Amino acid sequence: MNMIDLNELQLRGEKSFVTRRPLPPEKLDALSRNILAIKRKLNAVILAHNYQVPEIQDVADYVGDSLGLSQQAAATSAEVIVFCGVHFMAETAKILNPKKLVLLPDKDAGCSLEESCPADKLKALQDTNPNLYTIAYINCSAAVKALSDVICTSGNAVKIVNAAPRDRDLLFVPDENLGAWVMEQTGRKMTLWRGNCYAHVEFTHASIVRIRDQFPGAPLVAHPECTRAVRMLADEVCSTEKMVEYCRKSPATQIIIGTESGIIHRLRRECPEKTFIPAPTDNCRCNECRFMKMNTLEKLHDCMLNQFPSLELPEAILKRARLPIERMLEISARPIENAG
Ligand code: 13P
Ligand code: SF4
Repeated sequence: MNMIDLNELQLRGEKSFVTRRPLPPEKLDALSRNILAIKRKLNAVILAHNYQVPEIQDVADYVGDSLGLSQQAAATSAEVIVFCGVHFMAETAKILNPKKLVLLPDKDAGCSLEESCPADKLKALQDTNPNLYTIAYINCSAAVKALSDVICTSGNAVKIVNAAPRDRDLLFVPDENLGAWVMEQTGRKMTLWRGNCYAHVEFTHASIVRIRDQFPGAPLVAHPECTRAVRMLADEVCSTEKMVEYCRKSPATQIIIGTESGIIHRLRRECPEKTFIPAPTDNCRCNECRFMKMNTLEKLHDCMLNQFPSLELPEAILKRARLPIERMLEISARPIENAG
């Protein structure tokens, strides 16, 4: 077994930024300043997911998980929303703000979960049973949202499933790992779509056991998109935002992080006194989401300067997809005792 050195692991957390040639400090500074100037001119808000590269996180108005980002998008009074994440996240912001301009640095930043669930295939399954109640993880297309009864994120999936009608047959799309975890938490039976996050399934039982052996005192916090074999080894399973909260509160000074490595930057900002160990995978893909990493500071700057690319969706989809997202936001805001 190869022992992995902590410095090397820390570096892996930054690997994408290292291999992607960091911007020279003067350029980084100039781009960041220009972005903030254009933002003021456009009356824009910059929303960024926890997996975005550090230089994007550093200019964003809000950095968070899918739930926090949708809540921010629903509440913003800004005229323009600049969304640094993946396509389905920007779509959600557009659905909640159909009249606003929603910009995104790279239109091709997709998601393997979204790809795994084409709307026509979902419709064909729904047609086989009129009693199905479809709960869609937010990592899906607007067309799939438009076919769903309610949306959930990893941050509220347990609450949303607990609130689902008792007399319906629950169908959970598209993440089978998140779905299986929610079944364990709620005891509700669900039919699970066979989709997964290509990045999170890279963590294996063996790769986690190895790192735990090396850092026996360090708790492991893992995302529910990980496989059951990995979740079983975790001290906490939660969304990326709840990971930040867990790390803030934990008395541990070293914590193993079982999710995409972009979050290490956010964690270091929030808890500078702690050491975060990015959980390794079995090969050297180094826990990166290639889609999240398509966004760069230059592309963010250009999309704001050119007001392009922007998110456009057909009227009918915008209207229909809004209902299950609003249902999610409403259930999410309920106190726990009234959620069922
Ligand atoms: P969170 O909502 O927990 O940030 O997860 C989003 C995601 O895409 C995880 O891969
Ligand atoms: Fe999709 Fe996985 Fe990337 Fe999250 S990490 S955006 S689930 S491919």
